[in-house]
Amino acid sequence: MSTKRIVLFASGSGSNVENIVHYFNDRPHVQVSAVLTNKRDAKVLDRCNRLNISSLCFNKTAFMESDCVLNVLRSLRPDLIVLAGFLWKIPKNLIEAFPDSIVNIHPALLPKYGGKGMYGMRVHEAVRENNETKTGITIHYVNANYDEGAIIHQAKVTVEPKDSPEDIAKKVHELEYAYFPRIIEEILTPPPGRPKVIPDKL
Ligand code: GAR
Repeated sequence: MSTKRIVLFASGSGSNVENIVHYFNDRPHVQVSAVLTNKRDAKVLDRCNRLNISSLCFNKTAFMESDCVLNVLRSLRPDLIVLAGFLWKIPKNLIEAFPDSIVNIHPALLPKYGGKGMYGMRVHEAVRENNETKTGITIHYVNANYDEGAIIHQAKVTVEPKDSPEDIAKKVHELEYAYFPRIIEEILTPPPGRPKVIPDKL
């Protein structure tokens, strides 16, 4: 089996990045080539140093107004680009260069609680305010609109009346750690007979 390469994008803590790196450490058919970030003080950079993973930081001009990031990605030749807590919208040049090859994780059950400005704790606070009884994760392909690409996989968790937004965040992170690396692996090496996009059935 040929080795598949993934490039991760992250903007903050990077706990998903670390979880993905650990998962594939024992599975050498998938290699994390590099982690790219838009924040020079993101904690994910410390994690990359500790984990011995190449990391690069870029600014808005490099990402949105030039082919700088695109050229870096082309040189890395990723089989899949994985947004693991990355908060900027992906520009058209990247979407066109990597069709059906960019996936995102969103910390809610899309189409609920998605779109511009809906990320991280903001999502969990809205879930709490609306007294939802379920929340979860959505792993989906990325298109030109925030959180609107085809859904690959969703997983649910129960929200108890006593749960604070922090409790909800913890439950959702646990789902992310359990599912995201496995879904990435399935996209890259689908079991025989399994369609590339797992239908959005819960
Ligand atoms: C994750 O919960 C991820 O789903 C979310 O950011 C968090 C990053 O956590 N992504 C979004 O909200 C994207 N709209 P981490 O930095 O600890 O992996």
